[in-house]
Amino acid sequence: MEEFHKVRRLPPYVFEQVNRLKASARSRGADIIDLGMGNPDLPTPKAIVDKLCDVVRDPRTHRYSTSRGIPGLRRAQAAYYARRFGVKLDPETQVVATLGSKEGFANMAQAITAPGDVVLCPNPTYPIHAFGFIMSGGVIRSIQAEPDDGFIPALERAVRHSIPKPLALILNYPSNPTACVASLDFYKDIVAFARKNDIIILSDLAYAEIYFDGNPPPSVLQVPGAMDVTVEFTSMSKTFSMPGWRMGFAVGNERLIAALARVKSYLDYGAFTPIQVAAAAALNSDGAEIEEVRSVYHRRRDVLVESFGRAGWQVPPPPATMFAWAPIPEPFRQLGSLEFSKLLVEKAEVAVAPGVGFGEHGDDYVRIALVENEHRIRQAARSIKRFLATAEKTLDNVILLAARR
Ligand SMILES: Cc1ncc(COP(=O)(O)O)c(C=O)c1O
Repeated sequence: MEEFHKVRRLPPYVFEQVNRLKASARSRGADIIDLGMGNPDLPTPKAIVDKLCDVVRDPRTHRYSTSRGIPGLRRAQAAYYARRFGVKLDPETQVVATLGSKEGFANMAQAITAPGDVVLCPNPTYPIHAFGFIMSGGVIRSIQAEPDDGFIPALERAVRHSIPKPLALILNYPSNPTACVASLDFYKDIVAFARKNDIIILSDLAYAEIYFDGNPPPSVLQVPGAMDVTVEFTSMSKTFSMPGWRMGFAVGNERLIAALARVKSYLDYGAFTPIQVAAAAALNSDGAEIEEVRSVYHRRRDVLVESFGRAGWQVPPPPATMFAWAPIPEPFRQLGSLEFSKLLVEKAEVAVAPGVGFGEHGDDYVRIALVENEHRIRQAARSIKRFLATAEKTLDNVILLAARR
């Protein structure tokens, strides 16, 4: 029987192949150090958990909640934007709470896409950026992921050669997986371009607060006039170590926010009210929790770069996010990122995410997530050192092994 139309457009996650190997190694008793998935390992701060526990005792919170988010939560998100970015938002019309930013992004794609609409999407990027639109009947045109001098010329080419003209442009800085950060000047150029060409900007700012070296990433909404064409997505998952709670936001242009709210009103009743109340309390807090989360990732980043470097694998220090985007060491690059990742699981007992899982232009890299503690990261480095030392000598065999799969 032929596969369903939509399911055919959703190839199995590339990461699944590494996950399967990981599971089978673990079932043999291997102690796999898992730096693969971007699943924060830190506990949610106690004050947020306590708030949830208090609120959940009130039976009035057990009813259906509101799909757009309770007013106090939308106000808290608007206050966060005012504090952090100097951006004024109307909590009534310019803020929607989402069930994690991923849900918000995917339903925004559903709300605005007509069959065949062209969407400009970075490559490599977090998979929902492309697949949210592919599921909605859109067509993806890949653009480069780095926010450098080549970006605007690439957009100009895309507008000239896309039929129909692109509907939307996706931005994701700090980027998953590349960890690239964009400057406000870059955003100014992009907003001018989008306004001139009547293109919607969808900015994924999930890593707004996970930055190092004292350089907070800007919001594209800081650019005057951006509000006319932009919606930005943020997430509680990384900022407050709340990935399982499923809480995020879309903010920005009223017409786009209204479209998302309309779709969501048909699909969900919003997050469980105690989660929304606890999330509002987190956003209204003094920022000490965010600082703590950030400093843990900062220390892990430094340990990763230093220990992997000593092991013979030079990993550029990411300026933000919870990921390092690591070029595959030269002798192994020809294997491609999937085979290299499989080898790391089998021979070094370390799991990473193959770059090709984020798009074809990611295949020379793997993404290393900072989701194990410093001790485990050092342990991974020692194990990789042993792997590199032995595998380079027997590289021909390794490649043969990979080719035989
Ligand atoms: C760039 C990016 N956007 C969105 C998400 C999803 O976040 P949420 O848990 O808010 O759905 C992730 C999670 O890894 C991400 O890396």
